[in-house]
Amino acid sequence: MIISNNPFATLSVFLPSIVMQVFVILMVVLVILGTLFDIIHKKNVKYFFQNAKKAKSQAKRNLSSNEKTSIIAKTFASEILTTSELGAGKRRVAHLLGMYGTLLFWATSVILIFCYSSSTIKTPIIYPILWHVGAIMTCLGGYWFWFFLRVDVSAEAHPWYRIIQADLFVLSLVITSTFALLWSFLQSYNVIGWSIFFLILFGLSNLVLFGGVYWSKFAHMFYKPGAAIQRNLAEADGSRDNLPEPSDQPKQFGLGIKREAPKHY
Ligand code: HEM
Repeated sequence: MIISNNPFATLSVFLPSIVMQVFVILMVVLVILGTLFDIIHKKNVKYFFQNAKKAKSQAKRNLSSNEKTSIIAKTFASEILTTSELGAGKRRVAHLLGMYGTLLFWATSVILIFCYSSSTIKTPIIYPILWHVGAIMTCLGGYWFWFFLRVDVSAEAHPWYRIIQADLFVLSLVITSTFALLWSFLQSYNVIGWSIFFLILFGLSNLVLFGGVYWSKFAHMFYKPGAAIQRNLAEADGSRDNLPEPSDQPKQFGLGIKREAPKHY
């Protein structure tokens, strides 16, 4: 069955496992370097801590460490694990598909490459299945977002094929998973030439995805959780990030508000 094929085991006949393992380590180093350069260049983390300090000085009450732990745990369970900031709807479903698909794909890639990239070791069937499922989920969530949900397309009426730098992350993410699936599929049908071709494209797209962290939205997966925790702590201690409390007046936006369904991003 294609989905239970471990493509890295077959690959190990032509390419030593150590080369695959060094490639994975190189990708991790690229992510760390890209994120560090991003932090230094944009000074976003510096601003984040300055803002948190300022907000703390305006806190209306001190939070106990128990309260803080509970807020952080709740933020993890809701905002981070279920991306609740995207509300209930297609945008959130697409993101969850892409996020969990990617995590599954990355985790199983590491397991397959570091433990089972050899034709002499038997791979437990579950890992290649999860690897393929992860790649398929990433493609479903990512292409759904790319073709239909992207703000440029869904709210600003730009054609789906208009590509800008902000698309680097989502495009390299889905293209990497697409090439992985095509490589595995062709390899399991013994189409040697094309499978090598897609293997090379798979490698190159990984280089773009992990090497492009500085220019892409990749690092949002680290920044977003931090910002969500800070936002909820600021809400609880009353500093509210220096913003006013929501009004308790009835909502009066006029009839114009009903002309078009709201699109919140
Ligand atoms: C493996 C982890 C993750 C992956 C693969 C991932 C993937 C993506 C992708 C592909 C996009 C679309 C980017 C674009 O605008 O072109 C996106 C946007 C977004 N992500 Fe993530 N993400 C991850 C983690 C997270 C986490 C942990 C959070 C929040 C705590 C988060 C919140 C968001 C938000 C709010 C958007 C904007 C969505 C929109 O415009 O509809 N992401 N993410």
